[in-house]
Amino acid sequence: MCGIVGYVGEKNCIPILINGLKRLEYRGYDSAGLGLIANGKSQVIKNKGKVSLLEEKVDKLNITATLGIGHTRWATHGAPNETNAHPHFNTSKNLFVIHNGIIENYQALREGLKKLGYKFITETDTEVLPHLIDSFLVKGHSLFRSVQLALGEVEGTYGIAVVYANEPNKVVAARKGSPLVLGIGENENFVASDVAAILAHTKQIVYIEDGEVIEIYKDHFIAKTILDKQVDKEIHEITMSLDEISKGGFPHFMLKEIMEQPESVCNSMRGRLLLEKGTSKLGGLESVVDQLVDTKRIIISACGTSWHAGLVGEYMFEQFARIPTEVEYASEFRYRNPIVGKDDTIFFISQSGETADTLAAMHEAKIRGALVLGICNVVGSSIARESIAGVYTHAGPEIGVASTKAFTSQLVVLALITLLIARRKDMSLVDGKTIVEELQKIPEKISTILKLNDQIEKIAEEFKDVKNFLYLGRGYNFPVALEGALKLKEISYIHAEGYPAAEMKHGPIALIDDNMPVVFIAPKDSTYEKIVSNIEEIKARNGRIIAIASENDDKIDSLVDYSIKIPDTIRMLMPLLTVIPLQLLAYHIAVKKGLNVDQPRNLAKSVTVE
Ligand code: AGP
Ligand code: GLU
Repeated sequence: MCGIVGYVGEKNCIPILINGLKRLEYRGYDSAGLGLIANGKSQVIKNKGKVSLLEEKVDKLNITATLGIGHTRWATHGAPNETNAHPHFNTSKNLFVIHNGIIENYQALREGLKKLGYKFITETDTEVLPHLIDSFLVKGHSLFRSVQLALGEVEGTYGIAVVYANEPNKVVAARKGSPLVLGIGENENFVASDVAAILAHTKQIVYIEDGEVIEIYKDHFIAKTILDKQVDKEIHEITMSLDEISKGGFPHFMLKEIMEQPESVCNSMRGRLLLEKGTSKLGGLESVVDQLVDTKRIIISACGTSWHAGLVGEYMFEQFARIPTEVEYASEFRYRNPIVGKDDTIFFISQSGETADTLAAMHEAKIRGALVLGICNVVGSSIARESIAGVYTHAGPEIGVASTKAFTSQLVVLALITLLIARRKDMSLVDGKTIVEELQKIPEKISTILKLNDQIEKIAEEFKDVKNFLYLGRGYNFPVALEGALKLKEISYIHAEGYPAAEMKHGPIALIDDNMPVVFIAPKDSTYEKIVSNIEEIKARNGRIIAIASENDDKIDSLVDYSIKIPDTIRMLMPLLTVIPLQLLAYHIAVKKGLNVDQPRNLAKSVTVE
């Protein structure tokens, strides 16, 4: 999520680190910071906001250093302010750590370290690392060994870089679950979370693997595992351009974000599933969980894609938590004098946490005494700060204007909330376990669907010149039909509408002729036979049909022009799978039309105006 860069060599590292951070800024821009060793002395400089502000601050200090680390943050734990900015340090401020990822057991580690006398000054999970490493240094271990021993106690994900003034000629780096590479230069070496940060200096790259710890000097490096086994590393020569690399090798951020979904949905569940108890654990809702379980009514309010996620949430909450649920456009809610009070719970869903309509609706709900909860991706955003409690989606920064990975992460969070409430009500342990197990399988199933990219690209070629599209789905897949249509509209400028499949015959069927493509979301579930009848109705009128169907469905092929076969899961989680081909279809159609996929006309990533 965040960006990490480190340097050991003979040059002044400050411009190298600052320029590296600028290349990484797409990964997060809540705050930026440097940890430097200059003449054996350590120095930390950090601030809230963009790297350019850090640059101004450092320029004024007029310092140089030949060893240092830099970080640009995308906050997961603690507000995006200067105190919470990385590097984090030990009490004597001679050991600095930068971190990308989430330390899941930070609360337990923090309590243990406090008992040893360590004082914490930030709200981050990361701050346990410098103190934990320090607790081994004081026992006489080297920096390298202390990092190994500390990481042995850490659960979660990390890419870290550490510097220590008492061992001033090295950077120690390690990784588990977050990306990290080593760059090899002439009398200088680099470490970074992304090749983009160091490509201006070297094309010789060593990929650090999970569980490895690297000691980096200016002229050599040592690689071992956390358990202190020697590992042999290979040097690779990079051929990609800088622009390609900041998009992870993808031509657009949107495609990168679509492809990231196995990982981003995993991050949304990480540390939150309790398999044995068949439920979820959501720290952000702990203070309100009793109120939530007893609530008389839930309202979900949001805009655009987040509103579509809310519609799926409505099906989940009503089916399993058995609480009447309504979904409201935030823009309508705020102006229609809603009947809302202290017996109601209102979830505001927003990727950015800054959407003006959603924020204003939230203010309205707060005045009326409702339990106001947020589901946001951007930590420390206005909606996250102003809600009474909430859950972060942890999807990582979403840059493409068309929301993709934020949507699937919102669905995961809604499923986790459903579990939390339903298991406190009448959901059985067996049913709870089934949902947890199915959630755990989702990342793998998304990966399987992403392998259909070439097939979907070919279908896109066929349909790129049409003027209209219809998307139809039932039950949990009705909101997916809306989302598929929105994706196509916003990036390809093709008019598209989503409908509940059965509603088609009450009007839209008049539009069907041999030019009208219809996308059916038709996995094998309890409404399958009904949807097959709807397919027949379209076929009888010569419509062209693309079906998103179950992998074991052989019958559908004879009924439709194209079928995209996807794995099955339980109904409530199906949208997590059915939406993926629709994201890819919209993407490829827009690319084939030569449009600006990441920044479609007239749109903004975060709509902060009415
Ligand atoms: C989605 O692709 C859109 N760009 C848009 O509908 C978006 O979901 C909407 O503006 C809400 O944004 P938010 O989630 O940041 O509040
Ligand atoms: N969990 C850490 C934090 O909130 C690191 C986040 C990141 O990857 O930027 O500060």
